[in-house]
Amino acid sequence: MMKYYILFGPPGAGKGTQAKAIAQKYNLKHISTGELLRGEIARGTELGLKAKQLIEKGSLVPDEVVEGMIESAFNTTTGVEGFLLDGFPRTIAQAQALDRILSARAEAVTSVLSIMIPDEMVISRISGRAAVEGRADDADESIIRNRIATYHSQTEPEIAYYREAGKYREVDGVGTIEEVRDRLFDLIDEL
Ligand code: AP5
Ligand code: MG
Repeated sequence: MMKYYILFGPPGAGKGTQAKAIAQKYNLKHISTGELLRGEIARGTELGLKAKQLIEKGSLVPDEVVEGMIESAFNTTTGVEGFLLDGFPRTIAQAQALDRILSARAEAVTSVLSIMIPDEMVISRISGRAAVEGRADDADESIIRNRIATYHSQTEPEIAYYREAGKYREVDGVGTIEEVRDRLFDLIDEL
């Protein structure tokens, strides 16, 4: 069976940072729906034009858009032992869609790896990244606050969904990048 890990956590928790190390160590394909959407925006596609307005407000794009991206990544990736999903699923509806997509392939979510940090640390980390990466949704504190609110209202309910399925695992995201990485490695090794 392929592995399907979900890297979960609020904006700025370190999902993208940690995903690179995890994907390399465990031979997984890292799929970030945020990066895929920013790629669409950069190429000026029709999808990108629609997504841009929502992303730059700190709102989510429609479920069907990201579900399609994930399914096509599953269909076109070879040579890995599994997938590391970063920023997907982000709503209960997306989590249910993922379960349907995987069960149609006789596969299932392996585990949810959650990186937890407090809201105030979200603001400080993202403000630090703004100058480095130049993301439009990092530029202004009110957008960051809206992303945090979106996380609490639409994404956090997934914790209960995956706890009920016995798949939710959490690490403390406060600490150095290396400390958090080692917590995640230990967690995966114990699974
Ligand atoms: P997305 O790109 O997924 O953004 P996000 O969830 O807001 O998360 P970030 O990428 O901001 O944070 P991260 O956890 O990856 O942190 P990072 O490692 O960069 O989504 C963007 C938008 O796209 C969404 O708002 C939505 O509109 C849309 N979208 C995406 N997926 C969607 C979906 N499934 N459904 C609907 N819409 C969707 O770290 C942050 C900073 O902190 C970096 O500078 C890093 O160097 C630093 N850092 C990391 N770890 C540490 C540490 N331990 N100590 C100190 N600094 C650290
Ligand atoms: Mg990211």
